[in-house]
Amino acid sequence: MNDKQLVALQAAKYVKSGMLVGLGTGSTANYFIAELARLQQDEGLKVTTVASSTISAQNAQSLHLPIVALEHIGSIDLYVDGADEITPDMTLLKGRGSDLVKEKLLAKAATQFIVVADASKLVAHIGQNFVIPIEVIPFAWQLTKKSLEAIGGTGNLRPNAANDGFWITSHGSYVLDMKFDKSLNASTLNALINNTPGVVEHGIFYGLTDTILIADSGAVTELRA
Ligand code: 5RP
Repeated sequence: MNDKQLVALQAAKYVKSGMLVGLGTGSTANYFIAELARLQQDEGLKVTTVASSTISAQNAQSLHLPIVALEHIGSIDLYVDGADEITPDMTLLKGRGSDLVKEKLLAKAATQFIVVADASKLVAHIGQNFVIPIEVIPFAWQLTKKSLEAIGGTGNLRPNAANDGFWITSHGSYVLDMKFDKSLNASTLNALINNTPGVVEHGIFYGLTDTILIADSGAVTELRA
């Protein structure tokens, strides 16, 4: 069993029958979804799920997990998702794909948000290994990019897979992949990007995490806020 699977199985231990469970997106979240389906099949676990992306919804449906649409929920009991970067103060960088809007909504709506990751995701500061994905309203992208440059950002619109246009997220936004000076702490950077007109959402998850499960060479460590 690899570390991503190990940590996902550990997160599944927090799930109780009757819960409404948010499903994250990515390879680690997929192990969690598979384990929920196994618990339902083998141990009679009864949960309802809500997905953070079309791909996770399809995955859950194919495994016969009951699923409700995000627009029909007011809160959820538990949200389990991966991350691209995790800092010592439990700030996350997420959304390397195109689904960070739903991911952040579910993280905020959850009574408990558990992050599952292997040790490769631990970093000293946000933006250490990845650019910060910032979803922007398409017609606003130039003005929004200028505003982000004014607070020290550098970067550009993410190209599409064929490299003949721009990447469009699940919600019809463009993505500016930006780097910022590492002297800006996560709290400040989060507030500055939040205050930028034209930004739909961005990949810094600040102050949203309750519990982080990190697997490193077969051993799981739990960090709590
Ligand atoms: C997707 C995410 C993922 O959780 C993140 O990219 C980690 O993925 P993986 O579990 O495949 O390493 O934020 O938007």
